[in-house]
Amino acid sequence: MIREKKRIHVTQQGRPSSSGNNLDPWYSSYAARAAGLAASEVRALFAVASRPEVVSLAGGMPYVSALPEDLVTGAMDRVMREQGPTALQYGSGQGVPALREQILDVMALEGISASASDIVVTTGSQHALELFSKLFLDPGDVVISEGPSYVTAMVIFKSYQAEISHVPMDDDGLEPEALRQRIAALKAEGKRIKFLYTIPTFHNPAGVTLAESRRAEILEIAKQNDILVLEDNPYGLLYFDKEPPKALRSLDEDGVVYLGTFSKTLAPGFRVGWALAPHAIREKLILANEAAILCPSSFSQLVISEYLASADWKGQIETFRGVYRERKQTMIAALEEHLPMCTWTDPNGGFYVWLTLPEGLDSKAMLPRAVKELVAYTPGTAFYGDGGGAQNMRLSFCYPTPEQIRVGIRRLANVVNGELDLLQTFGGSGSLPGRASSSNYNAPPPNMS
Ligand SMILES: Cc1ncc(COP(=O)(O)O)c(C=O)c1O
Repeated sequence: MIREKKRIHVTQQGRPSSSGNNLDPWYSSYAARAAGLAASEVRALFAVASRPEVVSLAGGMPYVSALPEDLVTGAMDRVMREQGPTALQYGSGQGVPALREQILDVMALEGISASASDIVVTTGSQHALELFSKLFLDPGDVVISEGPSYVTAMVIFKSYQAEISHVPMDDDGLEPEALRQRIAALKAEGKRIKFLYTIPTFHNPAGVTLAESRRAEILEIAKQNDILVLEDNPYGLLYFDKEPPKALRSLDEDGVVYLGTFSKTLAPGFRVGWALAPHAIREKLILANEAAILCPSSFSQLVISEYLASADWKGQIETFRGVYRERKQTMIAALEEHLPMCTWTDPNGGFYVWLTLPEGLDSKAMLPRAVKELVAYTPGTAFYGDGGGAQNMRLSFCYPTPEQIRVGIRRLANVVNGELDLLQTFGGSGSLPGRASSSNYNAPPPNMS
């Protein structure tokens, strides 16, 4: 059941914030772009939240224990016996050719047909985001993204001193009319829009999926305005019931750069992702990859290639789907039972539920109390560049067990009820006085992003 029918949140553009402090003797030496790399204010809390007694609904860690260990050790063993010297050596900056061919089979599941020569293997799709931003962003450029958006992509955009302009979503994903209007407004201001960054399928953090009927329209708007589309798709194969619409890249070869990863369908520890890009951009991406890391890990690529060749990888994805489906259902049932005063999105895939608190409550101000009650979540403000999202939180169902999810949501309900009592007693801003939320899409700990 989709509880939230309305728009997710409307926001303005991001503003840079400072990094470092006067205790750092090199404070004045940092490049201006380092200002985008400040630690998040809730980072310290997340350290506490990693304690075993805390149920963490904050992290986006895949449940790798659902991957039979011998599938991985078998592949590793064969790689070392049969291709040991190659696996231990530097390789091509574009990535292992055999793996790039196999990636075509993975992308075909989402309707993409491409050539292996247009794929660049990267150190996770996070690294592809970094390389792409390095190629395209100058200070003051604008990146349009959904609001909310993936926090660690925004950290990268900000580190290249770009402005982020959020466009709202509803239950069907990015709103085409709002996108049109935003582009027109930015152009009228004389802004340089470099690209649209979008997570159309099982959005992180919103959990929603761009409706099929909107996909061609969004691409058309981008094309009419000469805006490149950066499609980030880590979760597309992890659907629960119905297959999602085909990837944006399946509809447009020239105007879309597509990012994929093995982090969610296999394991993030390999750090292998990829970019599929039109020829000219692909060339630049290879050069940027070589400049940054020489080549992606030969060992990881060969192990994944062997895994794809020898294991039932589609069956394994089915297993992951089953695990996440059960956890999502558990979370939704627990929300319905314990938090009827809230609304939330009900994703058909991926890892996340986006929850809206009752009017007057502030998720970031509430977090210390939640951690004290031994439950953690990610406050909504982390996913906006402008302080939006105070009334929201992201709840991840990917890692905790169903039992932990039930306990976590019960604890969260205690916290929300306590805050509502306070609100009734003292009125006003809801959460504790003097703790207003502020703009924050600074770096969370890696396992929280
Ligand atoms: C939307 C999105 N993009 C990119 C990434 C980075 O994934 P990786 O670098 O592990 O491929 C993540 C990880 O959670 C994500 O959620």
